[in-house]
Amino acid sequence: MPKNSYIVGLDIGTKKIAAIIGEAGEDGKIEIIGIGTAESRGLRKGVVVNLEATVSAIKKAQEEAELMAGYEIDRAFVGISGAHIKSFNSRGVIAVSGKNREIARDDIKRVIEQSKAVSIPPDREVIHIIPQEFVVDDQDGIKDPLGMSGIKLEVNVHIITSATTSVQNLRTCIGRAGIEVEQIVLNQIAASEATLTHDEMELGVGMIDLGGGTTEIAIFERGSLWYTSIIPIGGDNFTNDIAVGLRTPIPEAEKIKKKFGCVSSTLLDEQETIEVPSVGRGKKERILSRQLLADIIQPRAEEIFRLVDNDIKRMGYEKSLNSGIVLTGGTALLEGLEEVAEEIFDLPVRRGDPAGVGGLVDRVNTPDYATSVGLLLYGYKQWKEKGLSKDRKGSLWARLKEWLKEA
Ligand SMILES: Nc1ncnc2c1ncn2[C@@H]1O[C@H](COP(=O)(O)OP(=O)(O)OP(=O)(O)O)[C@@H](O)[C@H]1O
Ligand SMILES: [Mg+2]
Repeated sequence: MPKNSYIVGLDIGTKKIAAIIGEAGEDGKIEIIGIGTAESRGLRKGVVVNLEATVSAIKKAQEEAELMAGYEIDRAFVGISGAHIKSFNSRGVIAVSGKNREIARDDIKRVIEQSKAVSIPPDREVIHIIPQEFVVDDQDGIKDPLGMSGIKLEVNVHIITSATTSVQNLRTCIGRAGIEVEQIVLNQIAASEATLTHDEMELGVGMIDLGGGTTEIAIFERGSLWYTSIIPIGGDNFTNDIAVGLRTPIPEAEKIKKKFGCVSSTLLDEQETIEVPSVGRGKKERILSRQLLADIIQPRAEEIFRLVDNDIKRMGYEKSLNSGIVLTGGTALLEGLEEVAEEIFDLPVRRGDPAGVGGLVDRVNTPDYATSVGLLLYGYKQWKEKGLSKDRKGSLWARLKEWLKEA
């Protein structure tokens, strides 16, 4: 393992693109040394629809982060999202082949490979196979079966697939910005990495990332990921509701939302007023009650949470959420959101600010950076477990070690 390594997380969001450069030390910590952001205009609902606009935003975020860090980005862990993502649970079974029926690394590799032997349509590609638990001769709940003895090895996995074209477009944009994709990572996996605690994931928790164009859901239990889904509604819908409801331009509606938005009218003082600019030149500003604003956006928050709640119940995961719900993403900054969520889910709800990194944390300790910080943490974990592809390919010794392992 090299002494120090640089890891980069690249969150290609609907609203903003964020690049974070981290320096991984041997002391078991990763420090943020560079952050760059750019307004995103080339995506719709989490999916790249305009290559050129996306590339130029990536470059802007990249340059800003590079300047701050004094380091040139060559590769990155890149988040992926969109309604085209599908996820399902699968199972693999093999007979243990080795000497004395002792489970070797190769058996583990083989059983995971076997779990993938379900029919995946040619227009889709697998982006993650996440082992949930292993079963050795009917003994379940095993996290790491290496070295155990048994005749039959089974694994339960969560498989995440994506439309090939969407991944390809994402890769093209990253490539054109001169960056190599180290790995494509599902946004929810990254955001969970940054916002959930180990105990929550063990006990059972739902992570909801409310972004600009999407709401991304992940459910964990017994330390593993069991369910993910994406709803194509997000913070931009709140902004549109305000623009229509108050007859004000979108940029103004966005400002009003961030400054005065509250989705729980019970939290408001009836007398509170706000100033709202009108559409059209020469029109005067109006004074409105903050209560009216809440009346406009509260139904949207309720709608999103009802959709999530129905989704969770339809899949039968409502009993899994023993630690409740964690809300993250930029829209989680909306006042009163936790209260509305608690009412609809009838569960404890908290806001998830990204944690677990050092260095320049002041700029990224808000929920809109959960995915980018999470990509960094995910990358850091990969680096500790198997190094980065460059290091693996790069040194002869690393290649030799790989070769010896395989032999
Ligand atoms: N203080 C705030 N109050 C309310 N909403 C906010 C606040 N700050 C940001 N937002 C909203 O958060 C959303 C952006 O969140 P985020 O940066 O997580 O999105 P994204 O990752 O770009 O989008 P997506 O995940 O949907 O692709 C926008 O709709 C923005 O209006
Ligand atoms: Mg996002």
